[in-house]
Amino acid sequence: MSAATVATIKQALASQVQEAAARYPTKRSAIMPTLELAQQAYGVIDGTTYQAIAELLDVPEIWVFEVASFYTLFDRKEMGRYHLQLCTNVSCMLAGAEELLEELRMHLAAEGPHEGLFSLSAVECLGACDKAPVLMVNADYIEDITPAKLEVLLAALEREAKAAEEGAA
Ligand code: FES
Repeated sequence: MSAATVATIKQALASQVQEAAARYPTKRSAIMPTLELAQQAYGVIDGTTYQAIAELLDVPEIWVFEVASFYTLFDRKEMGRYHLQLCTNVSCMLAGAEELLEELRMHLAAEGPHEGLFSLSAVECLGACDKAPVLMVNADYIEDITPAKLEVLLAALEREAKAAEEGAA
């Protein structure tokens, strides 16, 4: 995470959290949307974030940790620009997820322009079993993925990241 402190996170998110919390019947049910806000703002959810959210919502910090550690959509360590989440549950496994996982591991282990760009997670069912195998790239679903589609996708992401870097320079 950045050098954000509990105080700076609270200050930055206070009004959005208040708005989000007003939509839920209990403060506990507002933890998940609050974690999403924090992740959008800071990228990584860590101990500082748990404490800030607990204080903002006036709930025990352990409740925040429980939600953050249960759902794979929350990043609790530094992630690459693209978080690849490959479903390895039954339908996806039967449709070739194992081969895709191996391809991804090999691609990411090799030297190349992708270094530091990707983080890979094997995850449980993403709820799109009829389109297996399924890969999430950040918040986007890539369905019916094949090794050939995967290769094209990785190359496109690498080009996109390079263009973004060049645009920012
Ligand atoms: S088993 Fe992969 S999306 Fe459900």
